Amino acid sequence: MALLDIQDLTVDYGRVRALAGISLAVREGEVATVLGANGAGKSTLLRAIVGGARASAGRLTFAGEDITRLATHARLGRGIVLVPEGRRILISMTIEENLQLGAHLRRDGEAVRREIGLIYERFPNLGQRRHMRASCLSGGEQQMLAIGRAMLARPRLMMLDEPSLGLSPLFVERLFDLIGELNRDGLTILLVEQNTGKALAAADSGTVLELGRVLMSGEPAKLAADPALQAAYLGAAAPAPAAATS
Ligand SMILES: Nc1ncnc2c1ncn2[C@@H]1O[C@H](COP(=O)(O)OP(=O)(O)OP(=O)(O)O)[C@@H](O)[C@H]1O
Ligand SMILES: [Mg+2]
Repeated sequence: MALLDIQDLTVDYGRVRALAGISLAVREGEVATVLGANGAGKSTLLRAIVGGARASAGRLTFAGEDITRLATHARLGRGIVLVPEGRRILISMTIEENLQLGAHLRRDGEAVRREIGLIYERFPNLGQRRHMRASCLSGGEQQMLAIGRAMLARPRLMMLDEPSLGLSPLFVERLFDLIGELNRDGLTILLVEQNTGKALAAADSGTVLELGRVLMSGEPAKLAADPALQAAYLGAAAPAPAAATS
């Protein structure tokens, strides 16, 4: 059964139609990837799933429940979490405070403390600086903090918006290792990426958006072999990371 089922989703920003009738399903336990050029509507799709952008038409079903009209905090309560583009950690707060924010809906403080400890084990750079401001972290470390914070919400579906953007090759490797580990632990992941090669290699299914519509979808190997897609996104002309490496 699909954990997330999106039917004919349309999103408008005033007179700009960002998504024009998208249908897409994410199965429980898989890594699904959404690809597409700048402006294709990838971030809008993720925003619509968490409730940050309103659906003007269509329906979102999560774990069998119609969530189309649910508020963002209610969707978070159902287990939907987004690590947005640009990470959005709070750089004036400490690393530990950032992690605790991820758990703000939880009442099981003991378990939260244990899970924060596990995150520090996994990312010693975060543990050593737990009481320092997050501004002291590199871009790659900030991305790990953003993912750690999302993990503390104990999500059923984690969505990542271009998590590899601006990261050094070493951190890109660590990021994709982490995505694989979280998925093996049972987490369903919806991954938006410009790094199409890596995303297709990590994913169980893929969808390519173009100007707010689904251009193609299916098995990652098939998408990777598609001549039109190769020409558009997978060739030597793939866009270089925009931000500085970290
Ligand atoms: N807040 C907004 N107000 C008006 N138009 C917007 C807004 N956010 C996005 N758009 C428009 O909606 C369309 C889809 O944008 P979106 O950010 O979803 O694309 P994207 O695929 O995530 O692009 P990128 O790869 O650059 O992140 C674009 O035409 C964009 O200009
Ligand atoms: Mg985007």
